[in-house]
Amino acid sequence: MKRGQFSSRLAFILAASGSAVGLGNIWGFPSKAAENGGGAFLLMYLFLAFLLAYPALMAELTLGRHGRSNMVSTLDSITSGLVQKRLGQLTGIMGVITATMILCFYSIIAGWMMAHTLASIMQTLKMYKIAEWLVTFSLWRNICFSTAFISLTLLVISAGVEKGIEIWSKRLMPCMLLLLLGLIVYVLLQPGAEEGLKIFLVPDFTQLADPQLILSALGQAFFSLSLGVGTMLIYGSYIRSDENLPVAGALVTVSDTGVAVLAGMLIIPALFAAQQLGVDIYTETGRLISGPDLIFHALPALFEGMGEAEALVAIAFFTLMSIAALTSSISMFEVPVSWAIETQKMSRLKASIAVGVFTILISGIISYKFTSIFEIVVVATTEWAQPILSLMLCLFCGWLMHRNHLLDELKQGVPDLESGLFWRIWPTYVKIFCPLLIVIILVQSFLPFS
Ligand code: TRP
Repeated sequence: MKRGQFSSRLAFILAASGSAVGLGNIWGFPSKAAENGGGAFLLMYLFLAFLLAYPALMAELTLGRHGRSNMVSTLDSITSGLVQKRLGQLTGIMGVITATMILCFYSIIAGWMMAHTLASIMQTLKMYKIAEWLVTFSLWRNICFSTAFISLTLLVISAGVEKGIEIWSKRLMPCMLLLLLGLIVYVLLQPGAEEGLKIFLVPDFTQLADPQLILSALGQAFFSLSLGVGTMLIYGSYIRSDENLPVAGALVTVSDTGVAVLAGMLIIPALFAAQQLGVDIYTETGRLISGPDLIFHALPALFEGMGEAEALVAIAFFTLMSIAALTSSISMFEVPVSWAIETQKMSRLKASIAVGVFTILISGIISYKFTSIFEIVVVATTEWAQPILSLMLCLFCGWLMHRNHLLDELKQGVPDLESGLFWRIWPTYVKIFCPLLIVIILVQSFLPFS
């Protein structure tokens, strides 16, 4: 069977940045920045994104393009000997499971975004009862909307790499960027916004040494670049051989961090503009509010105070969130689907439906037991599984993939690779520095004083 392939560099960049840019950027990043001292968090995040996440992203892209298949088959093909092979398969399977679990909780949050978009539309139609149900937390609302969101993702994925992932990334990413820029301009013109901008951009250096800030920024960098679970690996496997991987990877990193910074310039100033309207933006402990309180209470309160523009701005904001979530969930969905197609010999349609039904069931269970398991699933997948799997992928790329194969793989798109800075630094870097840094950060989070 012919494998799918992105038709151009732009198609890959849009699809991979579509994966990277998601709720993690527009919700997670500003929220965490608000919690951890604004500018200081931004600085640490930028530092870790380029110094740690970019090299790890390159490991995934290179492994993927070399293996030309899903994470399990790729790690199996580059290893030899029983122990190595088993370890490769295990890592691959853990990646597929983690990606699927991330999709399950992600679709619940994405469902909230869709529900809020619809609620804003209902408001303008004066259908207040329905709007009220849509914005109120309930089991059925959560289940309906996560199911709808997963079904939408399924539709895109079942159409394949070029006709599904590529076309929709090309359509949705420009819309997302336009909405984001439009909203930033609007919010920055509101009274109070300037103060928020200052808090976000001017770092308080004393906060930089806080271990909690470092761990939080690390988790954010890995989550935001969709690392560790084979998402970038599978997208890498769809890139043409003559493509310049280091440049393509760098462009994805730049656009991902760029959008995170832009989102910070939207959300934090919006929070301070909301304060001008009487919204309480600090928690009892004196920190800025974050998470659902920020997105579903403070910001809508700001929209409400805007008079005529209210409905339009609210619809634009929640549509932006929904689109960003969709291009990300597509990439998570592709991980188990490509695995099922390539190792279980299923057709794309069958694999998509099987994965869709499975994730709808699991996310239904998470919704049902929301208070007891949602947080556990989030922490287990993003704070533990993702960094550990990323560490494993760096080790596979650095130690088990033959250096000549690595060189040959990258040289296809960059003939003079050996004379450049990238090749002088990166191989040793993923081999030693990245794994070490991940271990240090994980271990320090265990220590009692952190
Ligand atoms: N990076 C996306 C975001 O910022 C989420 C995402 C897509 C993801 N694919 C992933 C996260 C794989 C972890 C693993 O919202």
